[in-house]
Amino acid sequence: MHPLARLDLRYIWHPFTQMRDWLRREPIVIVSGRGAVLRDAHGRRYIDANSSIWTNLHGHNQPIINAAIQKQLKRIAHSSALGLANEPASILAEKLIAAANFTGVPTRNRPDKAVGPRLCRVFYSDDGSTAMEVALKLAFESSRRSGRCRKPRFLTLACAYHGDTIGAVSLGQIHLFRHTWEGLLFKSDEVMAPYCYRCRYNVAKPERADARAYRKCRWECLETLERRFVAQKKRGEPYAGFVFEPLIQGAAGMIPQPAGWLRRATEIARQHNALLIADEVMTGFGRTGSGTAPDGPGPAALLFAEGNGVPALPRTGAQGHGPADSRDAVVQPTDFPLFACLHEGVKPDLMAMAKGMTGGYLPMAATLTTEDIFGEFLGEYSEFKTFFHGHSYTANQLGAAAALANMDILETPRSKRDRVRLEHEMRAQLARLWELPQVGDIRQVGLIAGIELVKNWRTKEPFDLRDRAGMRVCEAMAHRGVLTRPIGNVVVIMPPYCTTTSQMARIVDALHQSVRSVLG
Ligand SMILES: Cc1ncc(COP(=O)(O)O)c(C=O)c1O
Repeated sequence: MHPLARLDLRYIWHPFTQMRDWLRREPIVIVSGRGAVLRDAHGRRYIDANSSIWTNLHGHNQPIINAAIQKQLKRIAHSSALGLANEPASILAEKLIAAANFTGVPTRNRPDKAVGPRLCRVFYSDDGSTAMEVALKLAFESSRRSGRCRKPRFLTLACAYHGDTIGAVSLGQIHLFRHTWEGLLFKSDEVMAPYCYRCRYNVAKPERADARAYRKCRWECLETLERRFVAQKKRGEPYAGFVFEPLIQGAAGMIPQPAGWLRRATEIARQHNALLIADEVMTGFGRTGSGTAPDGPGPAALLFAEGNGVPALPRTGAQGHGPADSRDAVVQPTDFPLFACLHEGVKPDLMAMAKGMTGGYLPMAATLTTEDIFGEFLGEYSEFKTFFHGHSYTANQLGAAAALANMDILETPRSKRDRVRLEHEMRAQLARLWELPQVGDIRQVGLIAGIELVKNWRTKEPFDLRDRAGMRVCEAMAHRGVLTRPIGNVVVIMPPYCTTTSQMARIVDALHQSVRSVLG
């Protein structure tokens, strides 16, 4: 066993890991990385197929980000944001605001402009959980101060995951992650999420395609959502906020929303006066792609046309939609947003971002909000309206320098072209998996994919979680030089944006062979 592995086994307690299993074998010890490839202490190479738990964007050892951090390091690594401003964090804030208010054409839904307030203030923190914790506190207190709610309560999606701090867990709905802490948590309400593959309202028989594409339903998920808002209002106080992961729920098992769901769901929430709290921790910084690839029936078919068993969604009137066909915008690869919400023209009141913010280099996060919410915390010193919250490394200069370099790369035409190429390449390669009877659903949104493994695709019968089907397939993939982590029976493929065509093919080959050898 490598001496570094021995040290790990002796001292380290790993996150989300059954340590008894961990202690039984030699762990992979990563010592270096370049591009999409990681190298371990024995010199073995692996493709980083989940981008180091969804953080890495442009590859490891990326020269532009390396140089930006080194340049910043020669000036200063960190000074406090409590009482002091700093250079890269100020410049970064302006860039984040610009990206979050992207005024281009929404890509998945309608070509009218994004609707909602302008995000104009940035509160920095350290990771996804803290960014969500900040969003929660700001929503809670601003709702009280504005007089909208006396006891603010939040509506969240089934199987939501927003992080591991107590507030973030309270907003989460994955039983396995929250039941132990129930005594520490506050109550939040749960509403069904649009999980087309296993939705009780989807009457379609399984096909060899993304369930969003062949589903037959009457958008009962949206009716259910609306009923929840109405019922809450009848209880005397509207929901303070609607919390959601836009376009795709990650830790829930990569559950994508059919085109149009997000826009309509957030319209309902707005009609009921709830703040929109978007968790872009996984989806931000280009992860949800260009919006150019199909992810089910086109938006016009889904939203505005009768037929295919799908009724038209009610129009809201305010935006003045034209005829369906003219609304399918032609999206140029240079014209797509960095945040998932904006693909459907949704502008939230609070937007949390982390993970890819520094390109996967350093722990840094941000919560963006509106002037209205910011205003609720303004007052004379003696009024103590201050937002009493902050972390030692808030607005850290090294993180901000990395994040600025990340944003610069994302803006280049080359990066945009590469992302569009990889997204389409991924779709084409993943299609090979349909020939495996243990593949029930392949769902892709941009550069995120979940492959749901089942006992038999015709019956959709799931593997018992205790069988560790997903885990065993991923272990077999590691032996074939591809690293990723499953979520239960769902194998996640989320490659760095620099992944080459042949690397993408190797990822899918490894998955294909592993499913056959482990479950075949
Ligand atoms: C949607 C979402 N929100 C929040 C978090 C928590 O982020 P972190 O692990 O950086 O605290 C995660 C982590 O996976 C996430 O996927």
